[in-house]
Amino acid sequence: MAPRKLAAGNWKMNGDLAALEQIDILARDHAAANCDVLICPPALLVHPMAERATGIAVGGQDCHHAASGAHTGDISAEQLRDAGASHVIIGHSERRTDHGETDEMVAAKAVAAHQAGLTTIICVGETEAQRDAGETLDVIASQLAGSVPDCASAKNTVVAYEPIWAIGTGRTPTTDQIAEVHALMRRLMAERFGDGADLSLLYGGSVKPGNAAEIFAIADVDGALVGGASLKASDFGPIVSAL
Ligand code: G3H
Repeated sequence: MAPRKLAAGNWKMNGDLAALEQIDILARDHAAANCDVLICPPALLVHPMAERATGIAVGGQDCHHAASGAHTGDISAEQLRDAGASHVIIGHSERRTDHGETDEMVAAKAVAAHQAGLTTIICVGETEAQRDAGETLDVIASQLAGSVPDCASAKNTVVAYEPIWAIGTGRTPTTDQIAEVHALMRRLMAERFGDGADLSLLYGGSVKPGNAAEIFAIADVDGALVGGASLKASDFGPIVSAL
């Protein structure tokens, strides 16, 4: 099985009920897309989006590692699944920074998500200081080892490479830099999991309609995790078409 192509949008803490019309436009214009299309809205919008979306998968942006219990303000993977989600982003750098999530916590959340039947999008990425210090490949290898649980497979896990310095900045790595990291991720996943070579590997960080085709042409890039440019169908649509 070849890695599945995936165009994933992460709305982060943006959007409201009125924004759901963007899903109608995406569904209308990309019913015959060559890739899977996924939107991860704020948790409150998961259910109404899943009810409304036709041919577009819906995901969460985080989940708790426990299935239920006394965890005020948190959402479990099972609740996401119940609301209609098929995917969940785990370990986004904004969660790691804002909420102190460690690799160990990310792996525990991923296990919970897999147990609930969700596909995880596990995020890794270096800071600018780490890249400048020549540590990128070591950082990515370490994050993958710690964040991707042993129960991962090509069927339940997608990995997203998101250099932190490229998120929301309009800056992107060179094509060679992206290719180098993705080749490492492909090799490490293939070494660790029986079907690891078939995991979908996404690039994320300032993907726009204007650079999507160039990024998708890079070896071992199977799609994108898109933030800002996923909010409007007029931006996200051309990215979907480029994949
Ligand atoms: O999850 C998405 C990434 O953080 C990328 O965000 O496309 O706004 O740079 P961005």
